[in-house]
Amino acid sequence: MAWILIISCLFFLWIFSLCKILIPSSSPLRNSFLKAGVHEKRNVLLVIAHPDDESMFFTPTINFLTSRGHNLHILCLSVGNADGKGDTRKRELYQACAVLKVPIQQVKTLDHPDLQDGFGELWNHSLLAKIIEDEIISHSINLIITFDNYGVSGHCNHRDVHHGVCKLIYDTSQRDVEAWELVSTNILRKYSGPVDIWFSVLGVMQHSSGRMHCLVNEHCRRSFLAMAQHKSQWVWFRKLFVALSSYTYMNTLRKIKLGACEVTAPHNYMACEIN
Ligand SMILES: *[C@@H]1O[C@H](CO)[C@@H](O)[C@H](O)[C@H]1NC(C)=O
Ligand SMILES: [Zn+2]
Repeated sequence: MAWILIISCLFFLWIFSLCKILIPSSSPLRNSFLKAGVHEKRNVLLVIAHPDDESMFFTPTINFLTSRGHNLHILCLSVGNADGKGDTRKRELYQACAVLKVPIQQVKTLDHPDLQDGFGELWNHSLLAKIIEDEIISHSINLIITFDNYGVSGHCNHRDVHHGVCKLIYDTSQRDVEAWELVSTNILRKYSGPVDIWFSVLGVMQHSSGRMHCLVNEHCRRSFLAMAQHKSQWVWFRKLFVALSSYTYMNTLRKIKLGACEVTAPHNYMACEIN
């Protein structure tokens, strides 16, 4: 009897949270991210490691930016060729970006011999910084969004991308570029779907300085459609992941502080798990 009660409570909490997300309303969810420049449209660069990272983890952020008219560029540092499906996955990324309303000419995929998809593949942070810097210069980027130090799933390619961005903003002259990271949550929160909204809002409230923002997905359906474009990846467990993952419903972004992250962090093989 107690079990039935607990399960129904959880079910209602899930539905209630989903409604909270689908029906935007009250103040804690109202967002001031990038509000300082209401009249200023930013040139934003989203840096990811593999095709499908954008659809699995970043759609609340992408939807937020595109619906406010910011100019979003996506740099995908590999074609995701771990299973030899690189060409297919690259094409799927462009299809997903079309669904997400990111202009195709603003999406760039690399297939660099030193930056190949895989767990054992260590990506050179200096090389990453160099590549990202070139991209910043050629598109006058003033804001970067990328993974945090854990990279949502702990995948080493995600973490290396984070370190590449850190290296770029510390070591180069690109000091006026703001960088924001997608906050990784623990496994319970990660799979709590819309329910994570309450934890996210609490987390953001603890940092009142505006260094953290929770972006609620304004087009959840679009996120599913985008993920479905990655046909080579669209197997049952990924469908389940997208439905249960809190990253489908919201993103918490944190500003990367100068000096906050360890640029020369040693690679940690043990920390690598499957994406
Ligand atoms: C990393 O990349 C930089 C810049 O491309 C290069 O100078 C350096 O030798 C590389 N380091 C390693 C360990 O490959
Ligand atoms: Zn990935």
